[in-house]
Amino acid sequence: MRTDTSPTIYRHDYVPPAYWVETVEMGFDLDPALTRVATRLTVRRNPEGRTNTLVLCGESVELVQLQINGKRLASGDYQLGNGLLQIPNMPDQASVDIETAIQPEQNTSLMGLYVSNGNFFTQCEAEGFRKITYFPDRPDVMAKYKVMLRADKKKYPVLLSNGNLIEEGDLGDGRHYALWEDPFNKPSYLFALVAGNLVCQEEKFRLEDGRDALLQVWVEEGNLDKTQHAMDSLKNSIRWDEERFGLELDLDRFMIVAVGDFNMGAMENKGLNIFNTKFVLANPRIATDTDYANIEAVVGHEYFHNWTGNRVTCRDWFQLSLKEGLTVFRDQEFSADMIGTASGRACKRIEDVRVLRQAQFPEDAGPMAHPVRPDSYVEINNFYTVTVYEKGSEVVRMYQTLLGREGFRRGMDLYFARHDGQAVTCDDFRAAMADANDRDLTQFERWYSQAGTPRVKAETRYDSEAHTFELTLSQSCPPTPDQERKLPFHIPVAVGLVGPNGHDIPLHLDGAPQENIHGQGTIVLELTQARQTFRFNRVTEKPIPSLLRDFSAPVILEFEYSDDELAFLMAHDSDPFNRWEAGQRLASRHLLALATSSQGSGTSGDTADEAGLGQAFHKTLNDTSLEPAFRELALTLPSESLLADQLEVIDPQAIHRARVSLRKVLAENLREDWLATYHANQTPEPYSPDARSAGRRGLKNTALSYLCELDDAAAHELAQEQYDNAGNMTDRVAALAALVNSSAPGKAAALEHFYTEFEREALVVDKWFMLQGMARATDVAAVRKLMRHPAFTLKNPNRARSLIFSFCNGNPAQFHAPDGSGYAFWAEQVIALNAINPQVAARLARSLERWRKYTPELQAKMRPALEQVARTKKLSKDVLEIVTKALE
Ligand code: PHE
Ligand code: ZN
Repeated sequence: MRTDTSPTIYRHDYVPPAYWVETVEMGFDLDPALTRVATRLTVRRNPEGRTNTLVLCGESVELVQLQINGKRLASGDYQLGNGLLQIPNMPDQASVDIETAIQPEQNTSLMGLYVSNGNFFTQCEAEGFRKITYFPDRPDVMAKYKVMLRADKKKYPVLLSNGNLIEEGDLGDGRHYALWEDPFNKPSYLFALVAGNLVCQEEKFRLEDGRDALLQVWVEEGNLDKTQHAMDSLKNSIRWDEERFGLELDLDRFMIVAVGDFNMGAMENKGLNIFNTKFVLANPRIATDTDYANIEAVVGHEYFHNWTGNRVTCRDWFQLSLKEGLTVFRDQEFSADMIGTASGRACKRIEDVRVLRQAQFPEDAGPMAHPVRPDSYVEINNFYTVTVYEKGSEVVRMYQTLLGREGFRRGMDLYFARHDGQAVTCDDFRAAMADANDRDLTQFERWYSQAGTPRVKAETRYDSEAHTFELTLSQSCPPTPDQERKLPFHIPVAVGLVGPNGHDIPLHLDGAPQENIHGQGTIVLELTQARQTFRFNRVTEKPIPSLLRDFSAPVILEFEYSDDELAFLMAHDSDPFNRWEAGQRLASRHLLALATSSQGSGTSGDTADEAGLGQAFHKTLNDTSLEPAFRELALTLPSESLLADQLEVIDPQAIHRARVSLRKVLAENLREDWLATYHANQTPEPYSPDARSAGRRGLKNTALSYLCELDDAAAHELAQEQYDNAGNMTDRVAALAALVNSSAPGKAAALEHFYTEFEREALVVDKWFMLQGMARATDVAAVRKLMRHPAFTLKNPNRARSLIFSFCNGNPAQFHAPDGSGYAFWAEQVIALNAINPQVAARLARSLERWRKYTPELQAKMRPALEQVARTKKLSKDVLEIVTKALE
């Protein structure tokens, strides 16, 4: 299969570079149609290298000139082809001059140098630098950069790059220049430049060591009223990293720039972070509580990369999780600490686990399953995955669970002491954790090498005479592509035993080596064998086990709880995560029964034990001792995709019907409680995005959405009134969604009003498309109609995602229409996007990768759609890799 142009790259084939690069000097003459780039490298032979050929990568660049030590090379002196420029017989040390020409305006891939709304931006991770110049574009080649930018002064008054501004001035002829120098060694993927008509909010910020740093948030004119939250988040991030990890900002200047066209969330370029506008711009009028929380998390994430990613980087791209898993863990902890309360931390944990289960578990069970540290790839862009990021974060979290917070900190300190300034591997990180704590973490390596979600099965035996409680845990892991058999993992299982009075029983683990794990309510058991039994002594009454507290490992836990036991844990477990978990198990059990009993038929199934569930929900809804944010999470039913993942064969319509019908029952039975909750959780003006207020709004809007399931005049009025009077985007968009998913008479007018009101706010127009893409009544025809709206374009990734992705991934009942129309639509859009932006196209291609899980009727319609994409001419290797693996 096209192996000539898209070879598979293997981790085991790593060879160190033949030459290191010590310095990089670049000069850019910026012009959207044709930009010239002059690059001077000083290179030095690597004693560990194997050849004297200098290998440079280049893609979509024209080579204008090439010189070694000032001597121009003739075309016979080097080899050019297959994206490589190879110069044989190099001296041990040399200065290499490369001149290239590129066309930023034509660059729709948004990798390398491109133009967005008239301004210049770069994106170099993972392999975008080679679209700017020829270079050893691999993360283990680290160099010091000096960058000269020249451009028209009127059109591009602002010229930014990494590090410090050394010099700026006029050139005459209406052009000006800026010279930037980055004092730190860095890999090419962290290079960045920005040039354009931008303005900034800036602030001096005192660091812990007494230095002042200049912080800037750059945006287009007209968005300066939306930068405060990003700035606050940046300051909080800097403080947090100082306090929690003793890590300081190492630059005098730290910049964040917002760009409307961006493939991903944001990018940690040294000193010059470039962000998708979605993760910078906020004010109460345009941003929801979720947007505010996401901005804080992403600003934190990119800032934390400065140490975990930039100061210590990856040896090769197989080690991506070294920086991403670790940095996601850090941003999750940061967000949790910003909320502060125990209940708030639990809510953050629940949200993170929800993402893991909804997105990563399916990935780990499908054709793209790969270990946290992959063994091979065709296109590295396809491996910026939930496995590398979110499961990677869970793996890092397990070190902390096993070693304790202080032990984890010792490991981090040793990691930086050993590796600052280096490009290293996941093994190096694990070694630092082990060595700093004198622990053997050999078996822990399997979390990096084995794909698939482990299953942990629990069985218990209580002896009422001996007063012992035995817990037997067995683990297994299903086969994944290229990995038939798995070896046991090292799994931390946090356990508590809940007594009949609802309190934790003090734990006395039989044969426990350390006295200090006796008598606590929770202990972390270490499951390392395929099957292990743990015995607790002095258990005088039969307990209910609370297992995998705070989700202590990324596994699927199987235990046969009775409905009553779940309801009991839901009401009493001291671990808030497991309280929530018990409710979700109860609801899932119910919904799955409903979905399978109604498969094929048009009606929902048996509702015999709805009473039990209703009672449990009633209790939670009215338990005002629980934080609103927690109640909201507990009252939200497992999503359709989460339910789908738990079924052998997926029938999306049956799942949808089951979930909607249960929502209606809960709406009806608890109507007065929802209404009371709705009124009790209004928030005062002015709007504040803090976690407490956001939690109240979240619960209130959940109540509204349940009430709107009743689809009666009273509910319509409530939603309409909230829409009309909303003082912030959270309430406004929630009301609009409630209206749109009902038969309210005012829904068309509300949609129109919303569009007119926010027409000039791209991020809000995205919400408008998204809400419709996911609306229950939106079918393929409706999506096609929305695509004809003047505001729609496939070229802008946010816009494409807001409609196409939200429909294909967020509206399963409609996307999987029995006639296959959704699949034909999907194929069309993948093919269209492939010609514009392969990365975005490949993401969309993934919507059908798990086609073998669906009913035979749906599979029969999915296969031709996949095949149609696979045989498309000029298919990018990004998309090709996905559909090939799906069809294999
Ligand atoms: N490294 C970025 C992050 O996780 C993600 C990214 C990858 C952005 C590739 C752009 C391109 O913060
Ligand atoms: Zn990252």
